[in-house]
Amino acid sequence: MSEPRTDAKICGMGHSMKRKEDPRFIRGQGRYVDDFTLPGMLYMDIVRSPHAHAKIKKINTEKALKIPGVLAVIDGPTLAKYKLHWMPTISADTQMVLPIDEVMYQAQEVCAVIATERYIAADGVDAVEVEYEPLPVMVDPHKSLAPGAPVLRKDKEGKKDNLAFHWQAGDKAGAERALAASDVVASENVYLPRIHVASMETCGCIADFDTAQGKLTVYMTTQAPHAVRTVLALVAGHVGLSEERIRVVSPDIGGGFGGKVPVYPGYVIAIAASVVIGKPVKWIEDRMENLQADSFARDYHMKVELGAKKDGTMTSLKIKTVADHGYANASANPSKFPAGLFSICTGSYDLKHAFCEVDAAYTHKPPGGVAYRCSFRVTEAVHAIERATDALAQKLNMDPAELRMKNFIKPEQFPYKSVLGWEYDSGNYGVALKKAMGIIGYDALRKEQAEKRKKGELMGIGISSFTEIVGAGPSRDFDILGIKMFDSAEIRVHPTGKAIARFGTKSQGQGHETTYAQIVAEELGIPAAHVQVEEGDTDTAPYGLGTYASRSTPTSGAACALAARKIRDKAKKIAAHLLEVSEQDLEWEPGKFFVKGAPQMAKTIQECAFAAYTNHPQGMEAGLEAVHYYDPPNLTFPFGSYICVVDIDRGTGDVKVRRFVAVDDCGNIINPMIVEGQIHGGLTQGIGPALYEEISYDDEGNISGGSFLDYYVPTALETPHWETDKTVTPSPHHPFGAKGVGESATVGAPPAIANAVVDALRHLGVTHLDIPITPEKVWQILKKKGVAE
Ligand code: CDP
Repeated sequence: MSEPRTDAKICGMGHSMKRKEDPRFIRGQGRYVDDFTLPGMLYMDIVRSPHAHAKIKKINTEKALKIPGVLAVIDGPTLAKYKLHWMPTISADTQMVLPIDEVMYQAQEVCAVIATERYIAADGVDAVEVEYEPLPVMVDPHKSLAPGAPVLRKDKEGKKDNLAFHWQAGDKAGAERALAASDVVASENVYLPRIHVASMETCGCIADFDTAQGKLTVYMTTQAPHAVRTVLALVAGHVGLSEERIRVVSPDIGGGFGGKVPVYPGYVIAIAASVVIGKPVKWIEDRMENLQADSFARDYHMKVELGAKKDGTMTSLKIKTVADHGYANASANPSKFPAGLFSICTGSYDLKHAFCEVDAAYTHKPPGGVAYRCSFRVTEAVHAIERATDALAQKLNMDPAELRMKNFIKPEQFPYKSVLGWEYDSGNYGVALKKAMGIIGYDALRKEQAEKRKKGELMGIGISSFTEIVGAGPSRDFDILGIKMFDSAEIRVHPTGKAIARFGTKSQGQGHETTYAQIVAEELGIPAAHVQVEEGDTDTAPYGLGTYASRSTPTSGAACALAARKIRDKAKKIAAHLLEVSEQDLEWEPGKFFVKGAPQMAKTIQECAFAAYTNHPQGMEAGLEAVHYYDPPNLTFPFGSYICVVDIDRGTGDVKVRRFVAVDDCGNIINPMIVEGQIHGGLTQGIGPALYEEISYDDEGNISGGSFLDYYVPTALETPHWETDKTVTPSPHHPFGAKGVGESATVGAPPAIANAVVDALRHLGVTHLDIPITPEKVWQILKKKGVAE
């Protein structure tokens, strides 16, 4: 048996930790894909390109195939025989599974080795020799979109440029006129760099094709098992994989954050290998492959202009964006919204004029655009407006809290139709900001800041009053690859009054098992401990679009309540039958029906359930179960106000988050502890991009940040003490008034931190800093301004 490989996979990145010894790989006791073993299982590992753009002259597999235990090497031409070398992306673009003759980004899959053991497959990968002829590389999206730039996607017939798509919203001429008529215009170039979701568990799968039954089971790390099954059936129907013969099982997932929505080539190659070989094939990405090849987010270059009258009344917003999507547009965006929900960029403010546009560019980078813990580009939109609001306050010499208060959409304006087309369901922004200001002691902090400034000390206070947009979607507007966005719940109450509830969503650690059981308990009075919750198995769960974009509570949570209410309606009929009264005579209190005015005459839900199988009224169907497919009438609009206080070290440029207060509003809350956990995690994933995380490329397309030695995700040491609180503004259209919350903090935190740092430096003439705000970046400014120690 060969030793585990510990070298860098590509480009000699320093990497000396054995995977299993890396403390970051500690996992829970759950059933993760990597814990699964099937009899006769084979292992797959992938050869990846060291070049960002190159011709493949030759793949020499001779040495690899001589290694005992290496069974096969699968390359592009092999897949081409089955027409499986290309696949659609979930944004309806196309992407290579394995190349025939050209690689388009560093770490792209070149071929795959199948072996009897995991580390033999890795040895096989090392033994494959690939001859490349390097070709010119394009990494700058602006140059890529410039007239005359060489066309990257030559596979697309007739394509004459590198524009992946253009999208816009709003009235351009109106917004420009209003900007020209404004007394003051704040204008900033705001870049949100490419970052990675860096979830604890990497991607992976076991594809198990049962030749006797002709059935494929794929255990995989996916946030959207049903959608994946449908896409697989559409892509591989011609080789006999029709939908009823595909089962996708998504077991426990160690973090998804949007990165496990797309289908990556590794999944498809493992499936093809299993179908061809007739044995289960396991593929688990290692950490560096994960960081180098998939799950990239952001990469938005935005020019933001925000106009106002002298008194601070906002007049107009215009944002022009160049988005770097890498080699393919593989982000999971609803068809009608290729730039996601970016048009929420007017934020919490009552703007009468706005326009935004996005030009998406192809470059020689891995496919990007993953909605990393955000509802399809909302993080980018919120960063733009919240940064611009602070820049405007600075220009107006106005307190940023006062400017926000002046421009907030007022409570009486809800439901509020935004100038870019959204109908905000409910909100009360001023109350949330006042609460945050009260908790942090805003006025005293401003005084402290003024005192410190006199002494040359650098302290800043940053606010972000954001509006989210989650719960896609109303199916009239939202679909992914034509599949309408709704979600589902199926509840079956057993004769003894216990229940099983299944959903079209799929938790990746958000605690659905707890909160869905609570919804059933609330609606039916069956104790939560008696409700078994299941998700993620397409053979048993009702069809749904999955979990991302904080959509589970607004969609499947609603479906759960409505399915439970159908059950309650039937149980009422049964109770009336058992009590020999009319249904109109019955009243409900959680857990039982009783006769109005005679509370001793009652039947519990458990008694009704037993009767549904043993003594139901004649003419009524037996059993007690219901399914509901919920098509939300609108999205939900959670919001929050965050305030951050930072101190800057003049000797090192280091930014220390001294305090951070987060007041969130997600409507009615199902489980306060889970919501608090969601916010704590989200805030930490907010400080990461704000201060530490960035993936950049050199001119040759070589990645920086391809391992955790270079890509700094915050640990407990960097994470400050979060102070959280809430306001409650229920959604008027959700069955129990809830809004989503999973992503609010990731969206709201970065601008609060960036605003705080700029606020600390504003007296030095600094108006903007791109994130991540590293000590080096700050120190260079301090040096230039002559205040570095
Ligand atoms: O789609 P995802 O589960 O990521 O996001 P979510 O719907 O915002 O829910 C995240 C977790 O918070 C789930 O366990 C929800 O049930 C819970 N939650 C809650 O308890 N109350 C709310 N108003 C919203 C979410």
